[in-house]
Amino acid sequence: MYPRIKSLVLYIFSITLLAWVFYMKKEAKLAASSAEQKVDVVDHRLQPSVLDSAEHSKCVPNLTFANAFLALPEPHRVFLTYKHCRNFSVLLRPSRCSQEMFLLLAIKSSPINVDRRVAIRNTWGKEVSIGGRRIRLVFLLGRSEAKIQLQPLHQLLAYESQEFNDILQWDFVDDFFNLTLKELHFLRWFMEDCQHARFVLKGDDDVFVNTYNIVEFLQELDPEQDLFVGDVIANARPIRNTKVKYFIPEPMYGATFYPLYAGGGGYVMSRETVRRLQSTAEDMELFPIDDVFVGMCLAKMSVIPKNHAGFKTFGIQRPFNPFDPCLYKELMVVHRLNPTEMWIMWTLVKDDSIRCAVSVTHSYSRGWKRSY
Ligand SMILES: *[C@@H]1O[C@H](CO)[C@@H](O)[C@H](O)[C@H]1NC(C)=O
Ligand SMILES: *[C@@H]1O[C@H](CO)[C@@H](O)[C@H](O)[C@H]1NC(C)=O
Ligand SMILES: *[C@@H]1O[C@H](CO)[C@@H](O)[C@H](O)[C@H]1NC(C)=O
Repeated sequence: MYPRIKSLVLYIFSITLLAWVFYMKKEAKLAASSAEQKVDVVDHRLQPSVLDSAEHSKCVPNLTFANAFLALPEPHRVFLTYKHCRNFSVLLRPSRCSQEMFLLLAIKSSPINVDRRVAIRNTWGKEVSIGGRRIRLVFLLGRSEAKIQLQPLHQLLAYESQEFNDILQWDFVDDFFNLTLKELHFLRWFMEDCQHARFVLKGDDDVFVNTYNIVEFLQELDPEQDLFVGDVIANARPIRNTKVKYFIPEPMYGATFYPLYAGGGGYVMSRETVRRLQSTAEDMELFPIDDVFVGMCLAKMSVIPKNHAGFKTFGIQRPFNPFDPCLYKELMVVHRLNPTEMWIMWTLVKDDSIRCAVSVTHSYSRGWKRSY
């Protein structure tokens, strides 16, 4: 085929897929908002759709377990029913990391969040090396739920995987309570295909990461020593209110406080810590909240997560001036930005003509605290 026609066809194909994805996203939002209105209705039987999903994995649901907790909200029952299912196959996998990788950016994303992946690839995830230190970006995904049409989304992911070599996808449903499964499978992949990377930044697909600051911060540190740095939360209490997303009933976690943990929006770890985390996580029972689960593993490993003021995983208290470039020049990770805001931040961070005389980070108080 003529190269120009070929690229035109590819272009039209990807535009069509994108349009479709945005349409599905809108539909999903509508469905979610109508579902939200139903939170008060307590349903005591497992939905057939929940049982159907077992067909996709070879792991048999433990119904004895689920029936012992009939009063729990459905996501919690589903979690308990499938908690013992810990081995899922890889659907899409990027090539192995090279030996001299300095920093791996491992970003949790969902199949539908193609707009966020596009923004990250073109902004803070773009650099393949900073000051001669090699960086790599991978997105961590589950599969979408069967209720939306799967074929076009699957094609888009296959296209992204082929084009950008940054998609790591497993065969479990990508939902909130399965993030711990994603953590476990990511750690396994790291040990298999990327264990030479010196450091790992793990984060969400709606964070802005100042990759320059991260590299500068890490360059003096030893990857063979334990290191775990982020926005550390101490004395967080499990939420016992069933209506809150982070609700955890006492049978699932009895203690008054969670261990120290770093907000899952973004934290950095050394290779040594990732290795130890993997072997520790294999022996732990899964807990639905992934960043707390990592905190539990760290406690078992006797690694104390270190707090760093540059990690704002709970957002920055508003009002703040989003166009203040000095603010972002001082930060490492900022949570809850949309793709447009990411573009703005990146432009400002890249602008070397801006000089920031005074340190502004400390004049901003820490954002509101989510405690769960
Ligand atoms: C199901 O869960 C119960 C309660 O924890 C446990 O005793 C039982 O062994 C489990 N069954 C299977 C098949 O995993
Ligand atoms: C998962 O795989 C590991 C090793 O491959 C095995 O030891 C374990 O029993 C498996 N677990 C389940 C629930 O299949
Ligand atoms: C997690 O993934 C499994 C496997 O796809 C699925 O059966 C389950 O419904 C998902 N959700 C939860 C909350 O466990």
